[in-house]
Amino acid sequence: MKTHQYEVVVVGAGGAGLMAALYASKRGAKVAVVSKLYPTRSHTGTAQGGIGAALGNLEEDSPLWHAYDTVKGGDYLADQNAAKVLAEEAIDAVIELEHMGLPFDRTDDGRISQRRFGGHTSNFGEKPVRRACHAADRTGHMILQTLYQQCIKQQVKFFDEFHTIDVLVNNGRCVGSIAVDLATGELHVFHAKATMFATGGWGRVWSVTSNAHSLTGDGAAVTFRRGIPLQDLEFFQFHPTGIYKMGILITEGVRGEGGVLINGKGERFMEKYAPKIKDLASRDVISRSIYMEIRNGNGVKGKDYVYLDVTPNTVNRYLAEAGESRRITGEDVEKKLPDILDFCRTYLGVDPVKEPMPIQPTAHYAMGGIPTNVDAEVVTDEHWTVLPGMYAAGEVACVSCHGANRLGTNSLVDLVVFGRRGGMKMAEYVKGADWGALPANPAGEIEAEIQRIRNSKGKSRPGEMRATMQRVMMEGVGVFREQKAMQESLDCVRQLKEQYANDLHIDDTGMKFNTDVLEAWELGNLLELAETTAISAINRTESRGGHSREDYNERDDENWLVHTLISRNHATPYAIDGTYNLNTEKKVDMSLAAEDERFKPKVRTY
Ligand code: FUM
Repeated sequence: MKTHQYEVVVVGAGGAGLMAALYASKRGAKVAVVSKLYPTRSHTGTAQGGIGAALGNLEEDSPLWHAYDTVKGGDYLADQNAAKVLAEEAIDAVIELEHMGLPFDRTDDGRISQRRFGGHTSNFGEKPVRRACHAADRTGHMILQTLYQQCIKQQVKFFDEFHTIDVLVNNGRCVGSIAVDLATGELHVFHAKATMFATGGWGRVWSVTSNAHSLTGDGAAVTFRRGIPLQDLEFFQFHPTGIYKMGILITEGVRGEGGVLINGKGERFMEKYAPKIKDLASRDVISRSIYMEIRNGNGVKGKDYVYLDVTPNTVNRYLAEAGESRRITGEDVEKKLPDILDFCRTYLGVDPVKEPMPIQPTAHYAMGGIPTNVDAEVVTDEHWTVLPGMYAAGEVACVSCHGANRLGTNSLVDLVVFGRRGGMKMAEYVKGADWGALPANPAGEIEAEIQRIRNSKGKSRPGEMRATMQRVMMEGVGVFREQKAMQESLDCVRQLKEQYANDLHIDDTGMKFNTDVLEAWELGNLLELAETTAISAINRTESRGGHSREDYNERDDENWLVHTLISRNHATPYAIDGTYNLNTEKKVDMSLAAEDERFKPKVRTY
């Protein structure tokens, strides 16, 4: 086993991790990034349509309107101090990315081009506004490349294909993490004054997802097993437009460019559900509307999908009907949405310039995660108690700026804004902190767990167990939920956990590039997240944002304007027979509402 010492260790090389690493190193800290993937394969690279910032390059805009949309889109569960930071600092962060060399699309007069996106409005919900800054439909890809190049220039040290499997908490502070080197199977201890988890989400809990295979909730599961609570897990977003059956994301930018949703009867059904803003309502509203159409027999060919139509004829007809002067051509679609066209032509044999795309909602984004404050410091309870030395940013973290439902493009804003804040905070912290003692035999417990997995010769194969978990979570803890179905999913997940602990089967017992063992370990993380998501969802007896219950279909601000914290009460990190603590004492920050009536919770209409 090798031990490394870095003042700052960032786990995960997506947008949040790279921004944090860049800022910590620019401020003088010795920084390493540990990533289970090669950095430019991180999931930020799949974010398509844009990054929101109220630049006002094409229409009047303001950060206060951005904050309002974020709070309203989040169904009033967003901490308003965090939404304010997000909206205000987005502007500077985007300009900074531009100065780093990010090739944004341009307006005719050379400024950053902006497009419409769901829930982005001007003047407190009055009308859609162009706020999403974009680089075609490859915005995340460009952010990732830009930040990686900056980190290399800054001489950040990268440990690529090192899979982090434990976090070290000793004497009330975080002192590092443990990773396995995929190439050799060897364990490495990363002794650090400050450790940041920027490991992304866990869409792989569900069977239809836009998330890559690597999105297995590692950071969230690892911290959870070490006693750190997870916040608001019941809120998981389904993006309305994934490629039918495959889940691959079709950007909301398609609708931003004028694309419309059409049911099996040829109707533009969002006119019914969101008469004002139609296809640009927030994602939770649109995903539910699609399901309602399918339930009412209005799916295409009676099946469980609808169409997303960006063919110029259709788009131009609706633009004319809305009294808009702009028109689109096939060339515009080719230029603005090249990846989407490529995906559809390749995977579906459908050409979106000529025919509509078959789509269905796809599990996309965790609003919940490791609780943090606005400086990315991990907090462990409702009193905002900071765990010294431990930070989280990006999707794995819950700041919570997204509340119960994230607006499109705000994930990229979250990464750069809170990644940057975390980087600065870590640089400041490590200046005054000593190294802290590692626990005795730091890798002992995780090594024993990995050995257990490696030597498992039971009958349950990880691939089959994963498919079962994904199916039952899709059925019971998906877009619509109710007690009985959620409980059935939870019971099944618990049965799978039992099998995982006592009846696992692994074929490859070797050390080098043993993806068999690591994928099984990832399944353990997914099961942990599936179980805690179902428990948190059953506990919240209301409907809000991405958590829509048919047995409690109203939002209940009187009782539920609070965050959920779930923590475990188990004898050891890998035990499965413990109980869980559910704490709903963490109040939502309402600081904007205290000064401005418009931020007070009200029924959302679009
Ligand atoms: O639709 C999209 O391009 C996705 C963006 C996001 O999740 O923010």
